Amino acid sequence: MAHDVLISKEDIQKRIQELGEQITKEYDGEELVVVGVLNGAFMFVADLIREIKTPVHLEFMAVSSYEGTKSTGEIKVNLDLKESISGKNVLIVEDIVDTGLTVKTLRGILQQKGPKSLRLASLLYKPSRNVHKVAIDYLAFEIEDKFVIGYGLDFDGKFRELPYIGVYSHG
Ligand code: IMP
Repeated sequence: MAHDVLISKEDIQKRIQELGEQITKEYDGEELVVVGVLNGAFMFVADLIREIKTPVHLEFMAVSSYEGTKSTGEIKVNLDLKESISGKNVLIVEDIVDTGLTVKTLRGILQQKGPKSLRLASLLYKPSRNVHKVAIDYLAFEIEDKFVIGYGLDFDGKFRELPYIGVYSHG
């Protein structure tokens, strides 16, 4: 099945390099706990941390909020942090901010754990769907309200392995 390419592999890599440079500059040698949000952000977080030249401690969280192409309106933590983030610089790394519910809820959960700083990096952002206003500190791409797949993002568990971001098409 062929999907229209929305963002090429090359454009993704170039943008991630830029974000990595910005993050490196802004944390200025301070240690950073990067929290990758599974499953969607696994590829983005893997590429992003290779462009961050400050000491990184990588953690993962798994949350679920999505069924098919409609948000269910709540999130569940399926995998939690292994270590304390109290007093640490924390960077949440998400695949996409759609309605904003996941990130808003996650930020709230992590803020309660007393980090020194808490920021958000997201690969994608759909402004037209953003009902829960959230600030994205490091955004790779803003996109139209289309269901996208690839580079970690799935439709019913499929297409995560694609090296580019494509628009999902039926049939
Ligand atoms: P939100 O809570 O509505 O912001 O949804 C965020 C989650 O929904 C993301 O982490 C994705 O897993 C999923 N999601 C939202 N839009 C898309 C899409 O276009 N393609 C694939 N997954 C999506």
